[in-house]
Amino acid sequence: MENKKSIRKLVKERKNTFSAADRQNSNSIIFNKIINSSDYKNAQTIFIFVSFNNEVDTHRIIKQALQDGKILCVPKIISKEQGMDIVRIKSFKDLKEGAYGILEPEDNKLKVQEKDIELSYLPGLAFDRRGGRIGYGGGFYDRFLVKTRKDSKKIGLAYKFQVFSEVPMEEHDVFIDGIITD
Ligand SMILES: Nc1ncnc2c1ncn2[C@@H]1O[C@H](COP(=O)(O)OP(=O)(O)OP(=O)(O)O)[C@@H](O)[C@H]1O
Ligand SMILES: [Mg+2]
Repeated sequence: MENKKSIRKLVKERKNTFSAADRQNSNSIIFNKIINSSDYKNAQTIFIFVSFNNEVDTHRIIKQALQDGKILCVPKIISKEQGMDIVRIKSFKDLKEGAYGILEPEDNKLKVQEKDIELSYLPGLAFDRRGGRIGYGGGFYDRFLVKTRKDSKKIGLAYKFQVFSEVPMEEHDVFIDGIITD
């Protein structure tokens, strides 16, 4: 079993060889899978990360979910120590560039409790079919996931080249329920 660091490096290399056209095509496939899924249709309160750079695009999903009347929540990073708040947005325009250049809500006036989330769409660098997940190393999503309800659904969004037979999981790593890929 390779360690997290080498898997992160490998995925970053694979991402660099993925063309913009391929990425657009894959993003469309993932968008359609989500919008047509029963998980999505049945959930009222949804958490989703706001994609940055060459992550699976979630901007289109966010806009669609708002149009569909979902209670849509996104992360707002507080600090490395305190982790992130979950904040509802009512329009894509509520998102502004934050500290790392990532779009996030300007304030946390519409903060939502993790327990109220029914369905979460999660980022990651690598995933496996058991629900293993490797992120960017901040532990932000692991700390969020432990606070969610056990019966809420946790889904990773990834390109096929991000899926491995098994990724290393540590004590604090939270297993997720599934992945949606192109
Ligand atoms: N539940 C937790 N409580 C406190 N610290 C945690 C917790 N979960 C993770 N961490 C911290 O985060 C660090 C990085 O974790 P890890 O390498 O699993 O990040 P990651 O899963 O890649 O990131 P992310 O969850 O943001 O996608 C851990 O070494 C640990 O210090
Ligand atoms: Mg982790």
